[in-house]
Amino acid sequence: MKVLIVGGGGREHAIAAKIAENPAVEKLYAAPGNGGMAAICELVDLKATDVEGLTAFARNNGIDFVVVAPEDPLCLGLVDRLLAVGIPAFGPTKDAAVIEGSKVFSKKLMEKYGIPTAACETFDDCDKALAYLETIKYPTVVKCDGLAMGKGAIICEDKAAAIEAVVGMMREGGFGDAGKQVVIEEFLTGPEVSVLAFMDGKTVVPMVSSMDHKRAMDNDEGLNTGGMGTIAPNPCYTPEVAERCMKEIFLPTMEAMNAEGRTFRGCLFFGLMVTPDGPKVIEYNCRFGDPETEVVLPLLKSDLLTIMQATAAGKLADVPVVFDTGAACCVMLASGGYPVSYKKGYPITGLEEAAKTARVYHAGTALKDGQIVTAGGRVLGVSATAETLEAAIAKAYDAADKIDFTDKHLRRDIGQRALREGAK
Ligand code: AMP
Ligand code: GLY
Repeated sequence: MKVLIVGGGGREHAIAAKIAENPAVEKLYAAPGNGGMAAICELVDLKATDVEGLTAFARNNGIDFVVVAPEDPLCLGLVDRLLAVGIPAFGPTKDAAVIEGSKVFSKKLMEKYGIPTAACETFDDCDKALAYLETIKYPTVVKCDGLAMGKGAIICEDKAAAIEAVVGMMREGGFGDAGKQVVIEEFLTGPEVSVLAFMDGKTVVPMVSSMDHKRAMDNDEGLNTGGMGTIAPNPCYTPEVAERCMKEIFLPTMEAMNAEGRTFRGCLFFGLMVTPDGPKVIEYNCRFGDPETEVVLPLLKSDLLTIMQATAAGKLADVPVVFDTGAACCVMLASGGYPVSYKKGYPITGLEEAAKTARVYHAGTALKDGQIVTAGGRVLGVSATAETLEAAIAKAYDAADKIDFTDKHLRRDIGQRALREGAK
């Protein structure tokens, strides 16, 4: 079988590594891939958003199955195009990807079908949004409607900050078309849990839960990033919470999408908050999370490609999805200055040494004259599994410390909150 993976971050590297375990796979391609994926995939010089180029490549090269990992091509309809030319693909079609592509859509969906989430109002008129800010309690959360690379949610401590956020999005156009509509929502409190779930419109199979660490610095200080590390499982996702999520959130979401004629087939990411009133949805993503995937997939014992093919075919119920009972930790190594500004092109050393005890997923790397160099804000995800979370954390940091490059930045406290919450 020939499989094409669309995307080029740590998530895609983790997906590729897992798919490569299937003996039926003769050849893996990645578009555009990255310096680390080059070891297991042939890199294709096409952007993940080049819908026509990717469809033509898949046709001309006899690709049997395509995995579309990032949200942009999903929202642009890459899966629709592939299916239209007869190539099976993992990921939702455009009309289902809108669950991430439009916050206004997802909030209205939850409201219509009684799925627990933060109370909110949506606006397409700046003056009306500003008037509404006079009437609410603070803090509040202002979110732009469209995709914003994880930067579209602004927590506003007071009215002045909320005005700035609304004006920035709606009047100054800081988020382009994504900011034409905004959602202003109630500020919720409680631990956050990420749950990725396979879904085919008939069956939903949640994967092991995880916890992201979004801020750039230790103790959750500094700016929000794409994620500085993850652990799995998340101790706040107790069996009771899991049962409530299945009944109140996961199944109702699948049924809501079916009822809207937008059957979701792929991986649906539930960003949840366990509030004093129970679990609520903070956000949906129409894809695997990054860096959640880097801790979830190493714990998957079943064959990923088989699950993905079954999901795409609407036969998820027929395949086993089994996770290891141990724990995993992923520490991201970033470029100093990320997420604001940073330099690229520094040689990376110690990769082979680290790979002896951990999985080293490349996020922002490139191959330059045979040498792996830094090529992004998040450079590498160093992921380790063990019987206990404590042991997984120690293993991940031990390997992370063997890798070096100029301006290397990492958080030292990935997993500490989970240990305080009672993770074993
Ligand atoms: P989002 O882009 O919607 O995932 O939001 C990014 C982050 O902002 C989340 O992971 C939360 O930490 C925080 N956040 C979003 N919405 C809320 C909310 N209603 N209450 C509290 N925090 C929120
Ligand atoms: N880690 C959060 C995300 O993938 O959006």
